[in-house]
Amino acid sequence: MRRKILVTNALPYANGALHFGHILEAVQTDIWVRFQRMRGHDCLYCCAEDAHGTPIMIRAQQEGISPEALIARTAQEHRQDYDGFLIGFDEFHSTHSPENRRLTEELYVTLRDAGHLRRQVVRQAYDTQAGMFLPDRYIRGTCPRCRSADQYGDSCEVCGATYAPADLIEPRSILSDTRPQWCDSEHLFFRLGDFESMLRVYVGGGSLSPGVRAKLDEWFQAGLKDWDISRDAPYFGFEIPDAAGKYFYVWFDAPIGYIASFEHWRARHAGAASSDDVFADYWRSEQRSELYHFIGKDISYFHTLFWPAVLHGAGLRRPTAVFVHGFLTINGQKMSKSRGTFITARRYLTRLPAEALRYYFAAKLSGGIEDVDFSLDDFVARTNSDLVGKLVNIASRCAGFIERGGGRLAEALPEPALYARFAEAAERIGALYEAREYAAAVRDIMELADAANRYIDQCKPWALARDAARAAEVTAIATQGLNLFRVLMSYLAPVLPQMAQQSAAFLGTQFTDWSAVSRPLLGARIAAYQPLATRLDPATVATLVETPAPATTAAAAAGAAARPTAALEAGTTAAGTAAVSTAAAVISIEQFAKLDLRVARIEHAERVAGSDKLLKLTLGVGGEQRTVFSGIRASYPEPERLIGRLVVLIANLAPRKMRFGVSEGMVLCASGETDGVYLLSVDTGATDGMRIT
Ligand code: MSP
Ligand code: ZN
Repeated sequence: MRRKILVTNALPYANGALHFGHILEAVQTDIWVRFQRMRGHDCLYCCAEDAHGTPIMIRAQQEGISPEALIARTAQEHRQDYDGFLIGFDEFHSTHSPENRRLTEELYVTLRDAGHLRRQVVRQAYDTQAGMFLPDRYIRGTCPRCRSADQYGDSCEVCGATYAPADLIEPRSILSDTRPQWCDSEHLFFRLGDFESMLRVYVGGGSLSPGVRAKLDEWFQAGLKDWDISRDAPYFGFEIPDAAGKYFYVWFDAPIGYIASFEHWRARHAGAASSDDVFADYWRSEQRSELYHFIGKDISYFHTLFWPAVLHGAGLRRPTAVFVHGFLTINGQKMSKSRGTFITARRYLTRLPAEALRYYFAAKLSGGIEDVDFSLDDFVARTNSDLVGKLVNIASRCAGFIERGGGRLAEALPEPALYARFAEAAERIGALYEAREYAAAVRDIMELADAANRYIDQCKPWALARDAARAAEVTAIATQGLNLFRVLMSYLAPVLPQMAQQSAAFLGTQFTDWSAVSRPLLGARIAAYQPLATRLDPATVATLVETPAPATTAAAAAGAAARPTAALEAGTTAAGTAAVSTAAAVISIEQFAKLDLRVARIEHAERVAGSDKLLKLTLGVGGEQRTVFSGIRASYPEPERLIGRLVVLIANLAPRKMRFGVSEGMVLCASGETDGVYLLSVDTGATDGMRIT
């Protein structure tokens, strides 16, 4: 039976770059979607920007741009990053859209008229200087329990206490550093309690993992509290129709953004006549379609309680299931900006191939809520041994024999039983994908890859090939090998869509149908083999984090030490000299355009122990971070004073390994023969990441 499935992943906030956690989620979702499509199901994948809320409003103010401009810019970056990781959305929309406004208002009116809303006055912190009510996270002060200073308004990071912002000792607004006032304001509450019995049945029947179920039991035990869905102006969001100056809380309209995204897709794809039926199929019936949300464990309260209740109260269908994943850690620790382990999608994509990470995440993901660790060493080892050493190796070993034997596969397999063993795994591996047990699926596939390599090792086609009389035998062995490869590639196609496509071109086949491997590929002409993957360089992988392990070889270190004035050691003079010495040579605009010059913000600057010339600069470049070693210490003896400055970065210079770490670009300076170097700066108003043209 052809299933009709709608899938989403959580909508990323429109005020920050996508990082490895977002990519983990998108990859998990995308694999599932691609798998469902290979199974022949009708599977739609919708996402959007989560565009509303206080942080986005404040961020836009700080940058001196409108929230709309901020969202548009971020959306553009997010799209590029998702594309880079081969995430195949059918639709990527925005919660700040006409569709979402209409739907949010409709759902609100339905809930209100059904009596599921109530009004209540709440007392809240107000920043008189900023002229706005403060979210709990915008207040800091001393913890009332353990007296640790500088804790958030809702919880203490030191002792773990949770409390109300009014309980903080010496509270301060993080916006103005003033003491907040306590003011009354009327808010709208969604009566979650109305839905308790419905929710108990719903979550009891849904396919939730044990970890999520345990969390839900805790929440039911604690009692379902009504939910404040309104915020006071100034707020960036949708104004509530019958409550002037009040806005829908971002978390009220964010999940409705799933429907809005679907609606935007529908407007472009479903015929107008049938479009109401299409909406009803997906959003009114729990039988005619399936709805799945992939999310992280931090937002499961919203998705397993509020969201099904809102949908139900509004007369719409509830999710078939909510798939909750754990958090991504880097080398066993939480991602952290200060430790330099906050890896953005961009940082990865400018250095390494997307599919290596997709494979690694797949090899680590299960259907549960356990955290997933990205270990740099393990990442290199796994990719090189599994993808290159095992999988691609099969194709590259066999391709040459077929090519030399005339470019055509044999008419029959020498080992049909071995092939059958591979093909029969389709159902077993399919069931693992369906259950999101990707790690187990990958393990299974790699065991088969080992068996394929063993087969080739035993047959030794390279030895037989020396004897012209045995050419047919060699072709048969290579045909068997490539057929085993084809089965493995089919099983990995949801994880490695690009490699699958290249392999399809090579073999003259397609990886669009999960069951196609039930029959082998025989007698067909194949194309010349092109390398499908190459080994990862550990030194490049090390630059994903900002304090790379000292993987530099002794030789490289000695080299750098012996050439103290080379390129980056005195990056400024190098650039300066280049400019002077080529001053006479005319370059074309195309040549100039090859330079990727960017505005960068110096986020951190420090001296480098062991060098009297260098400063280590940490640069922010539009959400990405770069480390640059620059030979400007003599002119800037107090590096702290550079923090915050906007400078010009050559962003597409090949990274350079130095004794002290890897330098990822150069900052431009002016310099004369004798009298120091002068950093070029950028006028105020510019923001980091901007291109210099
Ligand atoms: N905008 C909300 C979601 C609204 S859905 C209607 C939001 N955005 S987010 O950008 O903060 O997070 C988006 C998704 O990324 C969430 O599912 C979140 O759990 C996930 N992750 C954020 N950091 C993560 C890790 N470190 N590891 C894994 N996933 C994490 O929440
Ligand atoms: Zn405390």
